[in-house]
Amino acid sequence: MFKNTQSSYGLVAIALHWLMAVMVLGLFGLGLYMVELTYYDSWYRGSMDLHKSVGITLAALLIFRFAWRALGTQPKPVAGSDKLINAIAHSAHLVIYVLLLGIVISGYLISTADGRSIEVFTLFNIPAIELSVENQADIAGKVHYWAACSLIGLVILHALGALKHHFIDKDKTLIRMIKPLKDD
Ligand code: HEM
Repeated sequence: MFKNTQSSYGLVAIALHWLMAVMVLGLFGLGLYMVELTYYDSWYRGSMDLHKSVGITLAALLIFRFAWRALGTQPKPVAGSDKLINAIAHSAHLVIYVLLLGIVISGYLISTADGRSIEVFTLFNIPAIELSVENQADIAGKVHYWAACSLIGLVILHALGALKHHFIDKDKTLIRMIKPLKDD
């Protein structure tokens, strides 16, 4: 039930998928909103602190997700699905993971460029690493923005693919990412 099987995702992978999907979409919206604020807006600091804290939580979940994926089984594509489409979907998943990693690393590098640590929900601090890179915040900021836009573009295609599986191919690809299925 908790672990993946050859034919279905388990509860842990399903919970991680949807929790992180909500966080990614929320962080993207919050990110676009907060860069429009000025220093004098009441939400200026609060929105950045929230973005950073949720971003660090996402990074922790990402590391856990990599470990969970590496240690467990990956469900095989549903029977009868096209081999080329499966290969494209598999590559898209890998690119999504690489972009997520790039986004959290560049986010960390923006926030810590001035040597300040990151306060996570006022509970603890993640220290800065001194890299002495000139324009660190600018470079990391560009990477962060473009990787986030690419991720959202890819996620839209990914979601359309999942909906095609469900409504056109009428197979179990989407259902098995919503609830664990019994082995056929
Ligand atoms: C920010 C949003 C999202 C992200 C970052 C994301 C990421 C991912 C990743 C990385 C995987 C591969 C899981 C693995 O095997 O390790 C995956 C699988 C999957 N996702 Fe998403 N996803 C998002 C949103 C969605 C949405 C909105 C839908 C549905 C409309 C969806 C449907 C699925 C399905 C059905 C699978 C399983 C595909 C299969 O069995 O091959 N995802 N997702």
